[in-house]
Amino acid sequence: MALADARRPSNRRERYRLMVDAASRPFAVGAIAVPLLLPVLGYLSGDSRVLFTVHLFLGAFWFGTAVLGAAVLGPVMGGLSEEANAEFAGGFVPKMNLLMEPVSVGVIASGIGLASMMGLWAAPSLSLWAALVLAIALLVLGFGPLHTFTAGMFDEIAADDTDHERLASLNKKYGMLSLVELVLMIAVLGTMSGLRWGF
Ligand code: HEM
Repeated sequence: MALADARRPSNRRERYRLMVDAASRPFAVGAIAVPLLLPVLGYLSGDSRVLFTVHLFLGAFWFGTAVLGAAVLGPVMGGLSEEANAEFAGGFVPKMNLLMEPVSVGVIASGIGLASMMGLWAAPSLSLWAALVLAIALLVLGFGPLHTFTAGMFDEIAADDTDHERLASLNKKYGMLSLVELVLMIAVLGTMSGLRWGF
């Protein structure tokens, strides 16, 4: 058992080491640094147009990925054979695991910073409060259950004796929760439109 399990990560540090190896080190560095540094640079520029552009870029990226994941990749992966699924997920899961949490933090931090640069926190509108509450819900979802499911998926992919049943079940749970994420994100876009038109 111990031998068969030789490559299954036994703790968080080990999991991340394997994940960085699987995604490649340059990808891992960029995936974490770019989404976190862009909002900082945007804020430090002192120009709300720069931070707005950063927020738009990261927000569009997150939203597009959420739609693609929930509507296309999830169903496609669910329909593949066990081996094909493990192979596809082996390339996809480590990269997405490293990229999407920093992107979510970058979108929300740039949004909060932008609202501050635009002086909106002095008298927050209903849309701004709603955006904040939805953002907190998205972070809880992303760093809580979605993280747990994708970490489990990575463990199964990294293991020599991939448990295909566990991988498929995690994939299914992930697919269902990513639909909840998509609904929350569509609601956020409603609040963004509200901010734009002064609600
Ligand atoms: C969760 C993901 C988010 C996405 C996808 C997103 C997307 C967008 C988009 C597309 C715009 C441009 C449309 C517009 O001008 O209203 C925008 C603007 C803006 N967003 Fe976000 N946003 C997100 C989260 C947040 C959060 C959490 C906040 C703050 C609490 C925020 C604050 C703002 C502000 C202040 C603007 C400028 C509004 C204006 O032009 O009057 N955003 N966002």
